[in-house]
Amino acid sequence: MIFRTLLISVQILLVLNENPERALNISKLFDHEKYIENFYDLYFKSKHSYEVRDYCTITAFEDSLSLILYQFSKYYLSVFPSETKLNDLCKRLETNQSNVYDLRLRKDYVVNICLHIVRCIDYLYVSGLHRNKKLFNLYKSHSLLCRTIQQFFTEHCKQSKVNDDEITISCNVEKLHIVFREIIYFEKITEEESFKYQKNTVYQSNATEFVKLEFELMSDIDWTETFFNDSARYNIFKQTPSQNVVRLNHQTLCDTMNLRKSFKKHSLKYSKGIEKNKCAPLLLTKFRSTSDEVKNLIIYSLQRLEEYFIFMLQSSNKTMYQLNKDQMDQNVLSPFKKLCGDVPEILLYIHEHKTNDPIDLTLFNLFLSLCGNNMDFIDLRCPAKYGSEFDSILLYQEKCIMEAIRVKLLWNFYVRNETILEIDEFTTNSEINTQCSDLHYKYIKDISTTITEFYTKKGNEVIIWTTYDWLSLKYLLTEVYEDNIDINGIKFNKMDIENVQFTFSEIYYYFLPLNANITKFLFFQNIILCNYLDEIMNMYVYRHAISIVVYFENRVYDKENEIKLSSLKNSLMWYEKSRYKFFLSLPAKCETKDSVLKIITAIKKLKDDSNFSEIRNNIPSTTYEEQYGATKTIINSKNMIDFFNSYLKRNCFAAIDFVSKFVDIVRKSTKVINPSNKDYDLINDEKPCHDLNFLPKTILWRDRNKQN
Ligand SMILES: *[C@@H]1O[C@H](CO)[C@@H](O)[C@H](O)[C@H]1NC(C)=O
Ligand SMILES: *[C@@H]1O[C@H](CO)[C@@H](O)[C@H](O)[C@H]1NC(C)=O
Ligand SMILES: *[C@@H]1O[C@H](CO)[C@@H](O)[C@H](O)[C@H]1NC(C)=O
Ligand SMILES: *[C@@H]1O[C@H](CO)[C@@H](O)[C@H](O)[C@H]1NC(C)=O
Ligand SMILES: *[C@@H]1O[C@H](CO)[C@@H](O)[C@H](O)[C@H]1NC(C)=O
Ligand SMILES: *[C@@H]1O[C@H](CO)[C@@H](O)[C@H](O)[C@H]1NC(C)=O
Ligand SMILES: *[C@@H]1O[C@H](CO)[C@@H](O)[C@H](O)[C@H]1NC(C)=O
Ligand SMILES: *[C@@H]1O[C@H](CO)[C@@H](O)[C@H](O)[C@H]1NC(C)=O
Repeated sequence: MIFRTLLISVQILLVLNENPERALNISKLFDHEKYIENFYDLYFKSKHSYEVRDYCTITAFEDSLSLILYQFSKYYLSVFPSETKLNDLCKRLETNQSNVYDLRLRKDYVVNICLHIVRCIDYLYVSGLHRNKKLFNLYKSHSLLCRTIQQFFTEHCKQSKVNDDEITISCNVEKLHIVFREIIYFEKITEEESFKYQKNTVYQSNATEFVKLEFELMSDIDWTETFFNDSARYNIFKQTPSQNVVRLNHQTLCDTMNLRKSFKKHSLKYSKGIEKNKCAPLLLTKFRSTSDEVKNLIIYSLQRLEEYFIFMLQSSNKTMYQLNKDQMDQNVLSPFKKLCGDVPEILLYIHEHKTNDPIDLTLFNLFLSLCGNNMDFIDLRCPAKYGSEFDSILLYQEKCIMEAIRVKLLWNFYVRNETILEIDEFTTNSEINTQCSDLHYKYIKDISTTITEFYTKKGNEVIIWTTYDWLSLKYLLTEVYEDNIDINGIKFNKMDIENVQFTFSEIYYYFLPLNANITKFLFFQNIILCNYLDEIMNMYVYRHAISIVVYFENRVYDKENEIKLSSLKNSLMWYEKSRYKFFLSLPAKCETKDSVLKIITAIKKLKDDSNFSEIRNNIPSTTYEEQYGATKTIINSKNMIDFFNSYLKRNCFAAIDFVSKFVDIVRKSTKVINPSNKDYDLINDEKPCHDLNFLPKTILWRDRNKQN
């Protein structure tokens, strides 16, 4: 280490004269190494010294961050009452009306670790560190200790006191178990340990200082030096989906002469402009089709804009100012917004005119990288401080934003190309750059507008599903749906990455931005759509089936009061209709599960002699066992037919509600041209539910007589 330090000092001296900026970079790297060495020496002395183990800085950095989050988890465990104490408090509620428990937090420590550590973890993520449980645990710890607990505070607590050192947060005693459910992830601590972690204030200050310094350095040092090819190739999704996905090709539009003419005109004008302004050379070969030509020009323009964004973020003023969300939109995100709104239409058009490969990887990956949701990305990485403590108004540090987005773009380029993007002379020359960037923007806008006008004129509904919000399932994974538990619950389902369980929502925030790869996005989406959402639909079918089984097993045979079996035949019509609607707007469809298909067939085939064992045999046994008893309790009574009818109806309404909530999300995440309500009409959807009335034969017979 000493040797390395000397080496760096010499380097600084050497370059100081000729290139002050580079010297600054190296000196920041030197600071980074120094802080880590100091921290490491202080806290890992008992094991091995930094030098003896020949640790490289990055490993020591990982160890240090792991230690900091480990200690941080212990600290939180010490702040919350222990489980026994909580039980006591709950018991005492009967005699003592006060149901608040005061949590006293070290303000400096808690706020700074949470706000500043994610960028440091990202730095490890793109480096050559082995991708194992240790690394992913860092993200998980941050999510639980910072996001989950923070959210708990917002929902169930009030900030009651605050001074320079301490925040007091008063939480509802009855709600505290919510936190326990989450922090069960960490090892419990004893009373003495709890005391120790409360008293550990000097360590806490040191750790806070370290994280704050490193947060600043993360915007000063060159991340590309740590980029590593193995990490770039790493696949975070290794599961096998349990259901197959059928990709559909909608073919919503066919080319017309006019459309092609219009494209040709814009493309010609664009390539002439490129030549005239001496922009980066554009390789024009002979294209098989107009859509092929458009695709190639769009890839070119996006690649040039990608370089321009990276350059712009690098060279703009990097102040430490705090920006609020509006200023951030204005100062940092506007060039992205100007572009990203126009691209999805073009992606859809090109996708529908594909020649061989299902999805154009270059184009889609480029789009995911440039047009990812920067706001969600930044929320976790760069909030510099809260407007007021634990308030929801965040301020963001400008420098961090610029650097975080720039590195994200560079990393995603590196993953695609395994080279570091070099800014060329076409971008560094500001005059050329400005003119050319305008041309790129204009071309994308023109093509997009042409397509939109074309779709609009055709008059039928077109769903542009090629948006980032849809491909990433943003709304499903980030918003709260209080009125539908099934939809709301999706984001809490878990997926394994190196033996660390992440919720879908965590994957959205922490990993999608650094994995701008359409293959990965679609895989993730398929798992959620087919293994989880579609499975919820199946559950409604099983409930329907169980109640039929309950009915037949428990009815007392009575010729007069039998349900007319043939009337049950179409009782699952709601499922077929709503499942169709469920996938109507999507380019993919999940294969229907075998057991569900068999149940549908068995119900359709029910005859008077009522052989319902085929239905029962196809209900998954765990579901059957879980629900049979409860369903029986509800249905089995004197008025069995009434209860049976109303049970089926309620189940049907719940299923329809689920589908319509989901369809709302789809329509909010995509862009819909010529929206038509015809296919999404709720009243129409509910009709099959209202029809679920299985009257006894006698009544049917009497009705018929009346009509005659
Ligand atoms: C009721 O409980 C609160 C905290 O749980 C405590 O501060 C207060 O002193 C208790 N009041 C009585 C009358 O015991
Ligand atoms: C905190 O850091 C200082 C110097 O950086 C060191 O001397 C001290 O021992 C550290 N204290 C603890 C408790 O880690
Ligand atoms: C200094 O570091 C920044 C950010 O890491 C980088 O963009 C820039 O090119 C570096 N400058 C020199 C002269 O190396
Ligand atoms: C990855 O990079 C390392 C070091 O730069 C190199 O030795 C190795 O061959 C690369 N791996 C592949 C598969 O290219
Ligand atoms: C950068 O900062 C300087 C001085 O702080 C200011 O004059 C200039 O206008 C700023 N440039 C941009 C692009 O914000
Ligand atoms: C995208 O991800 C898939 C699946 O992990 C992988 O096979 C492919 O190489 C990746 N492509 C890029 C450009 O990273
Ligand atoms: C990938 O890198 C090669 C070599 O550096 C370069 O020629 C090529 O244009 C790059 N590809 C993209 C998509 O930028
Ligand atoms: C019902 O059908 C199954 C197979 O489909 C058969 O094994 C069973 O004997 C039948 N039961 C009655 C009561 O018909």
